[in-house]
Amino acid sequence: MQHDAAAKLYFGRSVFPSYLDYAFAGLVDGEVVGRAFAVPFAFGVDDRNELPGGGWDQVIRWAHEDRTAGRKPTTMSALEIAFLPKARGGGNALAMLDALKACAKGSGFAELFAPVRPSQKHLRPRIPMRDYIDLKRDDGLPIDAWLRTHVRVGGQIIKIAPCSMTIVGTLAEWSRWTGALFERSGEEEVAGALVPVLVSVEQNYAAYVEPNVWVRHPL
Ligand SMILES: CC(C)(COP(=O)(O)OP(=O)(O)OC[C@H]1O[C@@H](n2cnc3c(N)ncnc32)[C@H](O)[C@@H]1OP(=O)(O)O)[C@@H](O)C(=O)NCCC(=O)NCCS
Repeated sequence: MQHDAAAKLYFGRSVFPSYLDYAFAGLVDGEVVGRAFAVPFAFGVDDRNELPGGGWDQVIRWAHEDRTAGRKPTTMSALEIAFLPKARGGGNALAMLDALKACAKGSGFAELFAPVRPSQKHLRPRIPMRDYIDLKRDDGLPIDAWLRTHVRVGGQIIKIAPCSMTIVGTLAEWSRWTGALFERSGEEEVAGALVPVLVSVEQNYAAYVEPNVWVRHPL
């Protein structure tokens, strides 16, 4: 995921300082154990009438265009909430989510969007995302822990972003990134990936197109 080209338009050294108002560190006893990022963007302008199928990548591109054009943002999308392993599973995610929501509210926005990356989807890479989000527990909440957290606090599932992150590279790059060999064309499962990676030995590249789930948190 560190090889997603769109990420540089947000996390790049020269760009990131302008997004510091939307970046958070999570501390426990003074130690940084987590981080959260969001990006503001203009929605409802030009052809931006619905949440993009291009998800995570696309909101970063939209925000970048807005900055270049001097356009004011009208809403905000979460990009990431992540903790060190030792700080997971204890409910810290809600504090981070609340921080992002407070940030959106303080900016005058009516909602916080999130292209959610279901945290257990990688265990079922062959299931289409539309079927995965329909898998529910007895209490009616999603079986996926991260999606469940969003829904439980009032997040509304809007739709799937089928190509939220696109990561493309030569087979040599993919081998370097993953430690795996890509010797057959077709779909290849990669540890941690939510869906199989598409490999072309003939054309010497592999492409990972990650689906996420658009969630809207009204404020
Ligand atoms: C996803 C993440 C942010 C969730 O934060 P968290 O503070 O660990 O979540 P919580 O403690 O609030 O747990 C929420 C639910 O997930 C469950 N859960 C947490 N970790 C789990 C795990 N490894 N396996 C299964 N369930 C898990 C909890 O039991 C809880 O379930 P409940 O709804 O039945 O109460 C955190 O696990 C993380 O940093 N993961 C790595 C980065 C990541 O994938 N981020 C999301 C995409 S940006």
